[in-house]
This record gives sequence, C-alpha cells and structure tokens, in this order.
Amino acid sequence: MPPSTTNGTAADAAEEYFQTNPPPKALASHQALAREFVQYHHETSPGRRMVLVTSGGTTVPLENQTVRFIDNFSAGTRGATSAEYFLKNGYAVIFLHRQFSLLPYSRHYSHSTNCFLDFMDEDGPEGGVVVRKEYQEKMRRVLEEYHYAKQNRLLLLLPFTTVTEYLFELRGLAEIMRPIGSGALFYLAAAVSDFFIPRERMEEHKIQSREDNTGGVGSGNSRQLVINLDPVPKFLNNLVQSWAPTGSMVVSFKLETDPNLLVAKAEQALQRYQHDLVIGNLLTTRKWEVVFVTRDGGEHWIRVPKTRRSKSFSGIEADIGTAERKHEEHHVDLEGGKVTEGMEIESLIIPELAYLHGETMKQRAEQSA
Ligand code: PMT
Repeated sequence: MPPSTTNGTAADAAEEYFQTNPPPKALASHQALAREFVQYHHETSPGRRMVLVTSGGTTVPLENQTVRFIDNFSAGTRGATSAEYFLKNGYAVIFLHRQFSLLPYSRHYSHSTNCFLDFMDEDGPEGGVVVRKEYQEKMRRVLEEYHYAKQNRLLLLLPFTTVTEYLFELRGLAEIMRPIGSGALFYLAAAVSDFFIPRERMEEHKIQSREDNTGGVGSGNSRQLVINLDPVPKFLNNLVQSWAPTGSMVVSFKLETDPNLLVAKAEQALQRYQHDLVIGNLLTTRKWEVVFVTRDGGEHWIRVPKTRRSKSFSGIEADIGTAERKHEEHHVDLEGGKVTEGMEIESLIIPELAYLHGETMKQRAEQSA
C-alpha cells in the first residue's frame, strides 16, 4: 500500500502538488519534442524499446526570483553513462537531465577533470587545431557513437532545474510514452530532492541578509536564516499506478551512505511502490558496485573487477562488499594484477537490465494473452 499523508493518499498529495506549484515554462515545447520522438520511433521501428533516463540533482529554490537554492551532489555521471550503454543496446533514449549536468558523449570531454582543451594541440604556426595523437582512438569511438545516435534520432535531451520542473516533466513524459507499452523502461537515476518550499510560502525577491526574517521561508533572529521545508510527495507510486504505460518496466535507484540500511531500504521501496526493480548504491562505492533488489527477495550484486576499477576522488574502495547481506553471489576478482583500462559499471548494469526488460516484456505478453 502506498503511504498516506495527513490529508489523504499519496496520489492526492501528488495531485495537490501539481495544482499548487506552477509548471515549467518549457513544458509545452518539451512535450511537443517528446511526442514527435515517440511517434517517430513507434512508426518507423515499432519493436524498438525506449527508455526514459532521469539524471542529475534537482534544486530547491529559496526565492521565486531565484538567487539561492538547495542542491545535492549528483553530477549526472550515472545517468549520462547509462544513456550511452542503453543506446549501444538498441534503445531510443529520452534523457531528462539537470541543466548543465553531464551529457552522454560530451561527458568524456567536459568539466574540470576532462577539459576538452587538454585533448587538443595547435597544428603548427599556420595550421589548424588537431586532437592529440594519444586521444584520437578513443575520441573517434565516442564521435562515431555520437554521430550514430544523432543521425538516427535516437537521443532526446530535455533539461530541468528545480524539483518541481522535474516532476512536471516526468509526469508528462510518462504519459507521452504510452504508445510504447511494455517496450518502455523508466530508469530513475536522478537524485530528487525530498523537501521543498511550497509556492505560497516562497519569497518573491532575494532574501536579505540583515532582514528580520519572520514567517515565510525564514524565521528566527535577524542574522539567522531558518528555512521550513515541506516533504515532496513520493511520486513513484503515481508513476507506477497511473502515469506510465501499461506493462512498462519501472526501475528506481536507492542511494544510502550506511551499508547496513541499503538492501533493507531498497526492499522497502519495492514493497511500497510495487514497481519492478530497485538498484541500490552506496555513496562511496557507487562507481564500482551496485545491487539489484527484486520483488522475489533477490539480492544480486554487480561489481567491477578489482583490476578494472578506475580511480575516484570521493570513492572508498574499502567499503566495497560492506552492504552485502546475503553473501550469495561469489565474484571472482582478478586480485593483484596490474590495473588495465578502467571499466564503467554501467557497461555491466545496462546489458543485464536490457535482458531483464526483455524477460518482463515476455511475461507481460503471456499474462495478457
Ligand atoms: O549522478 P551521480 O553522481 O553519478 O550519482 C548517481 C546517483 C547516486 C544519484 C544515482 O545512482 C542514485 O542513486 N539516484 C537515486 C538517489 C536516491 O536515492 O533517491 P531517493 O531515495 O530520493 O529516491 C528513490 C527513488 O524514488 C528515486 O528513483 C526517485 O526517482 C524516486 N522519488 C524520489 C523522490 C520523490 N519525491 N518521488 C520519487 O518518486
């Protein structure tokens, strides 16, 4: 059963949320693009599966004319990387992402860690600009895949910024994907804010630092800013029960920092929302291991072999394995060897998920026969 709120069911709370918070300005144009995308693939390749990948963090604005906002850590690595592997596995991808977070393909050459300028050289005093020799092979591979996705119109990029924008977009896209039926997959990797300031309590203008903040967002003495946040209704229930196409597969993520909680919280989410799969990850090991938790009590760990783990500033390798509860899976780790080329865990997650999606589609076809 979905959790109920003080005023009624979770569905009521979601409905109230949409009525009391304004839709994003870009909603209509995004929906038009998505309709066109769905229709194109539905008509030109009816068997093609389609995935909605959500990616990056949502913001919680403190003012209507926003100067300040609350944010979270997500850079969109999981979503952007997964989108590439979905494309490799034959899916058409709608990529609903936090504006300016990582994007499929360009992620290899963006931000401070992989600044694109470092991959290039000047080609003599009169010449142009070239890609440095040692990077050419990889860049060519990335470029080929990018061009393939673009030429075949397989990737639709739609940005959001705030939690409210995200939720309006999610609802609209799920409804637009209905013609895809069981071929639709929802891969909810975004880190969605759990708390927000309702529109009627939000300050219009920039909160003044020396103002006497009473009521509204802030209260307390003049030098403090005390913010009262309301819980964002849990929308997974609405997605599963009413927005998403009948027979589609819904996969959510669960992020925890305490290894003792991860699997139990993933199971709790599955019971509560009755969807298909929760992929659990710990903040400190998320680049190297994840767990697939299924409704039949399954706990299946996927891990990058030791010699293929790429370095991560925020990751803690010693935490690998600490959240495993059943210890049923035994992975042969290639211990001790020299680190070969880094492997992205999404290269293991997505083929496995594509297989599970295929099995789910078969089961649903049998059930409805
Ligand atoms: O971007 P990276 O740096 O690579 O990080 C990737 C990640 C760690 C953010 C990603 O792998 C991940 O775990 N994402 C989900 C984070 C999380 O735990 O979200 P949550 O516990 O707030 O929500 C769980 C699920 O419920 C999510 O799939 C979300 O879509 C859904 N949800 C959340 C809030 C809400 N109001 N309604 C929802 O339905």
